[in-house]
Amino acid sequence: MGMLRIVGLTMVLFLMGAGMAFAAEAANNDACTSCHDVTEAKYSKNMHATASCVSCHGEATEHQQDPSVLDMIDPNDPKQAETVNAGCMSCHAANQKMMFWEGSAHEAGDASCTSCHNIHTVGTETVEMDSCLSCHKDVRRDVNKFSHHPLKEGKMECSSCHDVHGTLAPALIKDADFTNELCYTCHTEKRGPYRFAHPPVEENCLSCHSAHGTNSPRLLTENLRNTCSNCHSYEHHPQIVNEDPGSRNTAMTRQASCLNCHGNIHGSNTDHHFR
Ligand code: HEC
Ligand code: HEC
Ligand code: HEC
Ligand code: HEC
Ligand code: HEC
Ligand code: HEC
Ligand code: HEC
Ligand code: HEC
Ligand code: HEC
Ligand code: HEC
Repeated sequence: MGMLRIVGLTMVLFLMGAGMAFAAEAANNDACTSCHDVTEAKYSKNMHATASCVSCHGEATEHQQDPSVLDMIDPNDPKQAETVNAGCMSCHAANQKMMFWEGSAHEAGDASCTSCHNIHTVGTETVEMDSCLSCHKDVRRDVNKFSHHPLKEGKMECSSCHDVHGTLAPALIKDADFTNELCYTCHTEKRGPYRFAHPPVEENCLSCHSAHGTNSPRLLTENLRNTCSNCHSYEHHPQIVNEDPGSRNTAMTRQASCLNCHGNIHGSNTDHHFR
């Protein structure tokens, strides 16, 4: 066993040096595969199929002699996150996506790479949504609300907006500048520039919308009327032609949707009241 251990260690060092290249090290895995059947699809078809078992599980020296001793790295144990992550990073640190991993919300929050990535499964090496929502219960509640980005419909993923391995932006959002830049990547037409811009639209889409989901239509944070009256006093709405003269709080403005008359709410090139 001593010999195998040395070979194993050498392999790890070799792989670290060789970056992403897998080496032909079947001999090393024999120590494990004599008992673990790796001809199963989950081992042999996975991207890591030819990687050394010990690069992720550690040497497991005792275990090889007495299987009831579990002295291996257990990728599912949250307490071992740091060790597990270091193993993964020994090969993946050079990936550009990992640039801001150190100190990121997930690294600091002790999430391990394996809380989102499976290894011995094929086709689901990266699990989104389900794994995300198992930890982020508040987001689970939101994405199930009446109005939501089409996440559960499978038309986009959490990672359409988030770089979960770390970003320079707050809340791990993809664009480092500010939230609107993220929204513009898909909703280009909202960028303008408009001759008559509505200031909150340019400042922050999230002053009226939620990113994940709400119970008001169109991802509005509240119903339409409340959304507007957060900033505009509806009681003092100007009089509208053909309405009861002298009335400033007319039936029209009471009952009609603000959007009947201010339909181009994101900005207009013709009218400063966004009609
Ligand atoms: C002598 C046979 C034998 C050898 C050699 C062996 N294992 Fe195991 N291994 C077992 C058995 C049996 C179990 C199930 C043990 C249990 O559940 O108590 C097991 C369980 C495991 C588990 C799951 C542990 C858990 O927490 O559920 C891992 C991971 C593992 N082995 C990795 C390895 C690695 C890596 C090697 C090579 C370094 C290796 N094994 C070598 C027999 C072996
Ligand atoms: C790239 C990292 C990596 C490599 C290489 C790797 N494993 Fe695993 N292994 C994991 C992770 C992560 C888990 C936890 C379950 C999962 O995510 O699929 C695991 C779980 C296991 C288990 C627990 C039972 C199971 O199937 O879920 C056994 C046994 C096991 N590995 C054996 C091996 C053996 C034997 C090798 C070499 C042929 C090996 N592993 C190579 C990362 C790895
Ligand atoms: C021995 C080196 C090595 C180790 C250790 C390793 N990987 Fe990999 N991993 C690779 C290689 C090589 C690929 C093939 C694809 C590539 O080049 O990115 C890969 C692919 C992946 C992919 C799929 C990438 C894609 O393009 O879809 C994920 C996810 C991944 N690894 C996560 C992990 C995690 C999580 C761990 C730790 C449990 C881990 N890896 C440990 C070398 C390694
Ligand atoms: C919070 C969940 C989560 C954690 C934690 C996580 N990943 Fe990922 N990973 C993802 C998702 C989602 C993707 C696919 C979307 C993307 O690339 O951003 C991905 C993609 C990848 C890829 C493929 C990148 C490419 O080049 O396309 C690799 C490799 C990878 N992860 C490795 C790791 C490693 C190593 C760790 C730990 C240091 C880790 N991941 C931690 C969720 C996670
Ligand atoms: C359309 C883009 C978008 C999508 C898709 C998206 N997010 Fe977000 N997420 C954001 C933005 C923007 C913020 C910042 C919100 C703020 O500042 O109030 C955020 C904030 C967060 C936060 C921190 C604040 C909180 O609500 O707890 C978490 C956690 C989060 N998102 C997880 C997820 C998960 C999990 C998914 C997939 C189910 C997801 N997000 C999908 C854009 C998105
Ligand atoms: C193992 C649990 C776990 C899993 C799985 C997980 N996260 Fe997280 N996430 C955390 C922890 C812990 C933090 C840091 C503490 C916090 O801000 O809530 C965090 C933080 C975040 C943040 C930043 C919140 C902020 O306010 O800065 C976002 C965004 C996020 N996660 C998205 C995701 C996405 C998307 C996925 C799936 C690809 C995912 N998470 C999977 C545990 C997890
Ligand atoms: C990755 C692309 C993408 C990004 C980034 C994105 N969205 Fe969306 N958005 C979509 C898709 C797809 C739909 C659904 C369109 C449909 O069903 O026709 C949508 C729908 C919407 C809707 C209408 C919802 C409804 O019920 O009709 C609003 C409002 C919205 N997004 C606002 C935002 C805001 C605000 C941001 C920035 C925080 C953002 N989006 C970022 C892709 C994106
Ligand atoms: C002042 C509040 C407000 C702000 C700020 C705002 N919106 Fe909206 N948005 C609305 C209202 C109200 C609707 C509903 C329009 C309707 O039902 O016809 C809407 C609808 C939408 C829709 C779906 C219908 C359509 O017009 O395509 C998208 C997408 C959208 N907004 C994206 C954005 C983006 C991106 C931003 C930031 C650049 C933003 N919104 C900023 C109020 C706002
Ligand atoms: C976050 C604050 C905020 C919200 C929410 C908001 N607005 Fe505005 N709105 C403003 C600001 C600031 C101006 C510019 C005021 C000015 O120029 O006097 C403005 C201007 C306007 C104008 C043009 C006024 C003029 O004299 O040119 C109209 C019409 C308007 N908003 C309607 C709405 C409607 C309808 C809603 C709800 C969908 C809404 N606003 C939601 C802040 C907001
Ligand atoms: C029946 C059509 C109509 C409806 C409904 C309506 N407005 Fe207006 N609104 C107008 C007209 C017309 C003007 C311009 C009046 C003028 O020229 O002085 C105006 C002006 C405004 C202004 C600019 C105020 C100012 O002092 O110049 C704001 C802000 C505004 N509306 C917000 C709203 C909000 C919020 C709602 C929903 C609660 C709403 N409007 C509903 C027709 C309407």
